Amino acid sequence: MNTSKQVNAMIGLLGLLVLVLAAYAINEGNRMEAAREEILERDIVRGSKMFVNNCRSCHGMTGKGSEEGAFAPVLHNDSFLIIDEHNQDFEATPAGDAAKIRTFLRTTIACGRTGSPMPTWAERYGGPLSDTKIDQLVTLLTTPGAWEIYNEISDEHLEEVYPDIHDHAEAFQKDTEATLVKLADVPTLTVTEANCGQYTGTTAAEFRVRDPFVPKGSAPVEGVATSKGKGPVSGPAVKGIAVADFFRANCAVCHGQNRQGGVGPALTPARLTQADEFYANTIANGRPGTAMPAWKTTASLSDEDVQNLVTYIKTVNP
Ligand code: HEC
Ligand code: HEC
Repeated sequence: MNTSKQVNAMIGLLGLLVLVLAAYAINEGNRMEAAREEILERDIVRGSKMFVNNCRSCHGMTGKGSEEGAFAPVLHNDSFLIIDEHNQDFEATPAGDAAKIRTFLRTTIACGRTGSPMPTWAERYGGPLSDTKIDQLVTLLTTPGAWEIYNEISDEHLEEVYPDIHDHAEAFQKDTEATLVKLADVPTLTVTEANCGQYTGTTAAEFRVRDPFVPKGSAPVEGVATSKGKGPVSGPAVKGIAVADFFRANCAVCHGQNRQGGVGPALTPARLTQADEFYANTIANGRPGTAMPAWKTTASLSDEDVQNLVTYIKTVNP
């Protein structure tokens, strides 16, 4: 081989090397993406199994809370979703918001909620779950599409528990009856007395009403409370939250989404015939010996907050 042929061959080889490296780099990107998705899916599957065994009895067979006859709040809720930077259609959730949502969910699950039947789950506070497992539950609650995987896990569970019932609806019905905590049993549940969690029903409210889906191209709004896209509250408010939103976030769990009653009685104008003071006193101080909390102390409501709630339930029809 003469020199110029050697040089040509070298150049050819170098070119080939560049191509091979480029192909490898592209493939490596794909492989990393595939690995990332595999880990995510594995966590969602594990979180789903835990949800089947530990959470659905109170939060609903599909996490839909009171919408499916459960007494604890909905957890299969778009409001908890975190959009990542790989999403094609929607803006990624601002990092600050994503961190706040994860902290809210992680500490609520780890610690339970004072004054409610939400149990303490973290091993380090005497509960049954490790931090890794709690994170897998948080992944289930925050990943778009995760509840579809949950539904598959829940169906597998049905097939294991009821191998002889081939009708899915019938097996689901039977499982629901066996699993869901009945409203009548709620007052007998153990109430979490003290814990590590800094969240209450009131501070939880802002996390339940956000809209995570910001179309690509529109400027993302930082701040969990404002990301729901509402301006300052104009009508009567309780702790700065519109009274109806406050009710939905804090009272509906016992009095029903449409105030039709549940653990507590129906709260509609037609039913509430006593004087304002009577109901204001109930809301402020609770009813000792019943599940009705004293809102003045548990959520530090002002007299005006309490009166706004009374006016709302006595005058606004659901
Ligand atoms: C014994 C019933 C019960 C069980 C079991 C239970 N929870 Fe709860 N959970 C509740 C109640 C009641 C609340 C609402 C407390 C309140 O009104 O402030 C709650 C609140 C929550 C919240 C906060 C939601 C919000 O909107 O404020 C999260 C998150 C949560 N639970 C996750 C879980 C997970 C995950 C499990 C399973 C590991 C679980 N819960 C098991 C009763 C339960
Ligand atoms: C954990 C369950 C629970 C929650 C949460 C709850 N309540 Fe109650 N509430 C009850 C129960 C139970 C009663 C009935 C107590 C009794 O038997 O006297 C009651 C009674 C009441 C009454 C008296 C109704 C009547 O006819 O005498 C009012 C008013 C009321 N609740 C308002 C509220 C408001 C407003 C909120 C939210 C800020 C709220 N409740 C949250 C359980 C709850």
